[in-house]
Amino acid sequence: MDENLVPRMARVEGIREETPDIRSLKIVFEDDEARRSFRFEPGQFCLISVFGAGEATFCISSPPSWEGFVEVSVKKVGKVTAAIHDLEVGDRIGFRGPYGNHFDLEKMEGRSIVFVGGGIGLAPLRPPIYEVLARRDRYKSVDIIYGARTVLDIAFRADLEAWRQTPGVEVVTAVDPGGEDETWKGEVGLVPHVLEKVNPSPESVLVTCGPPIMIKYVILSARKMGFAPADVITTLEMKMKCGAGLCGRCNIGSKYVCRHGPVFSLDEVESLPDEF
Ligand SMILES: Cc1cc2nc3c(=O)[nH]c(=O)nc-3n(C[C@H](O)[C@H](O)[C@H](O)COP(=O)(O)OP(=O)(O)OC[C@H]3O[C@@H](n4cnc5c(N)ncnc54)[C@H](O)[C@@H]3O)c2cc1C
Ligand code: FES
Repeated sequence: MDENLVPRMARVEGIREETPDIRSLKIVFEDDEARRSFRFEPGQFCLISVFGAGEATFCISSPPSWEGFVEVSVKKVGKVTAAIHDLEVGDRIGFRGPYGNHFDLEKMEGRSIVFVGGGIGLAPLRPPIYEVLARRDRYKSVDIIYGARTVLDIAFRADLEAWRQTPGVEVVTAVDPGGEDETWKGEVGLVPHVLEKVNPSPESVLVTCGPPIMIKYVILSARKMGFAPADVITTLEMKMKCGAGLCGRCNIGSKYVCRHGPVFSLDEVESLPDEF
């Protein structure tokens, strides 16, 4: 059997509650050699199995430069994600991957980048953001726009604060209208509106991830603002089974999201049957 289809045994070494329904797990492989040799690229995903509950797909939310462990950030929506929210530090899990393509950060060198995330959609953007900031001199301006439904739903607060402190990086956070409270100092508005207000140069590369409805309107705003389809990069989330291009579960037209994606440019998405 393909070695990459066999789960590695791993342990939960840490848990960070990001919001009432999102938590990040720090995962360490039990095998020393796996711990040393594991490599992945920003944007790749894995399948996590919780024994007795099942297996589900998550992007790796820590950057490749953090060695010795990986993180995944999980929103509770159903059976497996609820089981992940019941895990405790020290519990054993299975880990398959990494799978899929990745954000081509080398191709973006010399450009300005706008990262646009919504809710748990900041998880896949976290690795490329950390990698870009680690090589800050290779890129022009970096804007990070992040929205959540309410103040309580703002995830990755420590990361947002660290990025805000990085010279040459603009971070704008927003909550949906009605989601603000008396403590809120960020924007109030839907992510596509906030993007238009920030008004980044259409010469930038725009990288976005979030709920499909948000991506749909971010793409409409990007078009209106004059971004070229090849410069709008997004991730697609189809239900997956094998994760490795074998079962056909995740296909859209001629593409398997697990093998050809999950990262696609807008011109690639437009060549597929209607996804948004
Ligand atoms: C490439 C990829 C990367 C992903 N990365 C993350 C991540 O970093 N963090 C995270 O929390 N989630 C991520 N997801 C979504 C995650 O895989 C699903 O939320 C998870 O499989 C749900 O499993 P469940 O057993 O808890 O839910 P189920 O009991 O199977 O379903 C509960 C509800 O969620 C819906 N659902 C299930 N899977 C998906 C899906 N893939 N997309 C949209 N709706 C779905 C179902 O239709 C149903 O309404 C990713 C998915 C893909 C394909
Ligand atoms: S999940 Fe099996 S082919 Fe993509």
